[in-house]
Amino acid sequence: MASAVERLETGVPGLDKLIEGGLVKNSVNLLAGQTGTGKTVFGMQYLLHGLRKGESGIYITLEQSEEDIMTDVAKFGWDVEFKKAKEQGKFVLIAEEPTDIKTLQFSTINYAKKINAKRFVLDSLSIATMGWKVSSLDMGKVRSEVMSYMKALKNIGITSLLITEIPEAEVKALSRFGFEEFIADSVIVLHYLEYAAGGTPRSLIIRKMRRTSHGTDIYPIEIGKNGLAIKK
Ligand SMILES: Nc1ncnc2c1ncn2[C@@H]1O[C@H](COP(=O)(O)OP(=O)(O)O)[C@@H](O)[C@H]1O
Ligand SMILES: [Mg+2]
Repeated sequence: MASAVERLETGVPGLDKLIEGGLVKNSVNLLAGQTGTGKTVFGMQYLLHGLRKGESGIYITLEQSEEDIMTDVAKFGWDVEFKKAKEQGKFVLIAEEPTDIKTLQFSTINYAKKINAKRFVLDSLSIATMGWKVSSLDMGKVRSEVMSYMKALKNIGITSLLITEIPEAEVKALSRFGFEEFIADSVIVLHYLEYAAGGTPRSLIIRKMRRTSHGTDIYPIEIGKNGLAIKK
């Protein structure tokens, strides 16, 4: 008999029941969206949910400062819990300079071991791969480095959420190079339609999730005082 797939709840109200209970344990998941779609909120909410269940978490940002993110989540009243978890050595929020994937891999693994992390968020994979100029790069090399990073993440007992920025000009793209979504285990996409007058501008789709029979609709979402949630 096949053993049941272990899962980690995302903590986004309404989402877990659409994905058989949560993200597959030890998987690498992409969270894609254009700017302002709620990726950072989702990422912090995912870590907070873990902390409430006793699971340590890491947030690496290559985009913002620690202060910026903590100020943003203070609006949801999450800052106190994050600060307490940080003092207890269960949570780290690291603002790193984007260098290269190898360096990022090294520091991710170090932090994961240090706090015995179960959850990891990278904000963002797009920035992490920025160092490579598309015109002159060897795509094979980029692909193999991103693949080896994802493989390393799976081998250290963490369930990862890698944020990817969808460029404004390329609404159909899900990532920077276009191969990231093929090697990740799942892809969740957040959308914002500025022309949804009178309607609901935010939505979420589950574009892919291995080993999971997932919902296939366009789900309206909202960002309210408790964070991000699928609209009832
Ligand atoms: N406290 C809040 N209440 C309601 N909406 C919020 C709140 N904080 C942020 N938002 C919404 O979330 C958006 C930013 O979300 P964020 O996760 O930073 O986006 P992204 O990381 O995708 O750029 C804001 O533009 C705003 O619309
Ligand atoms: Mg963000």
